[in-house]
Amino acid sequence: MIFVTGGAGFIGSNFIHLWLKEHEEPVINLDKLTYAGNPDNLLAINQHPNYHFVHGDMGDRQLLAQLFAKFKPRAIINFAAESHVDRSIHGPADFIQTNVVATFNLLEESRHFFAYLSDKEKEGFRFLHVSTDEVFGTLEPHDPAFSETTPYAPNSPYSASKAASDHLVRAWHHTYGLPILTTNCSNNYGPYQFPEKLIPLMIAHALQGKPLPIYGDGKNIRDWLYVEDHCRAIMTVLEKGRIGETYNVGGLNEKTNLDIVEIICHQLDKLKPAASPYSSLITFVKDRPGHDRRYAINANKIMHELHWHPRESFETGIEKTINWYLEHEEWVANILSGQYRHWLEKNYQDRVNNI
Ligand code: NAD
Ligand code: TYD
Repeated sequence: MIFVTGGAGFIGSNFIHLWLKEHEEPVINLDKLTYAGNPDNLLAINQHPNYHFVHGDMGDRQLLAQLFAKFKPRAIINFAAESHVDRSIHGPADFIQTNVVATFNLLEESRHFFAYLSDKEKEGFRFLHVSTDEVFGTLEPHDPAFSETTPYAPNSPYSASKAASDHLVRAWHHTYGLPILTTNCSNNYGPYQFPEKLIPLMIAHALQGKPLPIYGDGKNIRDWLYVEDHCRAIMTVLEKGRIGETYNVGGLNEKTNLDIVEIICHQLDKLKPAASPYSSLITFVKDRPGHDRRYAINANKIMHELHWHPRESFETGIEKTINWYLEHEEWVANILSGQYRHWLEKNYQDRVNNI
């Protein structure tokens, strides 16, 4: 079986749905259920005979040792993380605790478990660490895209903590021989994304007639990948990736934040027209401190070596995503709890309009 951490979050839950649809092999999901972990994401497969959920912290080494001994996974896929840059600016401690310390604990327990496997089991064992393009820092407009050899230069507490975990993963391979794989992916979007991130936040705010808060001048650029394409990339790397290697994963979709929000508004105008165009809700607000200007991914290695390609264009992916949010307004409504409203106040109340 495979052992997934953080599978109740956005990418992990999409991964588990896809895995169970396309594989016979069982999956165990260890998740702490932080604010970002949502059991509703997995409701449809809760009773699936090949799905097993464990509520716990991946920093808990005793629990990890028990789970490894009981389930004897042939692979570990580490999704669990604190993942939101703005939250990392307001409170970096949780990012160090989970992304660095808990990943260290997961590596240590994996190393001990690996040491007692038979030679044949060792040959098949993999530790796949899911990381981000943000570890490479920021690009100027005409800089070449990030490749696997781009030096790390993280700028936010989030990206610094992910960079630290990537370094640990690398060292556990080089020093202890743990058969690791690392993926560094660009911004994901799609179903089940918590509405604190750009795309679901803008959809949710538009549908509520609330301002669409664009940081700074809105010209920051991200590369966007539909989440199912990312999940397929992870499956491909797990199956065919070379041990010890890192693979950059991207959607070949560089867009400014303003472009993204305008595309969302335009689609919503067609699908759910309101009294005035949704773009009238666009509001420029105070910028994020240390805001990276541009991310771009050179995905040649995974495309040429492992023959992975994104299946969705941005146009098809964003249409699927908006339709999903329109069909799952209850999922969003359930998240709009007191605690989440508190975050919105904290993050946006001091961002006076820039215009
Ligand atoms: P998310 O915030 O939606 O989900 C994170 C999950 O991890 C949640 O279910 C949470 O409960 C769980 N978790 C947090 N701390 C834990 C702990 N100590 N023990 C066990 N579970 C814990 O994140 P996501 O967007 O799904 O991202 C998943 C991974 O992919 C992260 O490692 C992130 O850095 C990486 N990544 C994300 C993106 C993106 O655009 N979202 C892009 C590239 C890489
Ligand atoms: P986000 O979804 O938080 O992802 P990341 O910071 O990891 O790239 O943000 C994507 C981009 O959108 C980023 O440049 C910040 C910007 N942004 C806004 O302009 N307004 C918002 O309310 C949010 C949440 C993000």
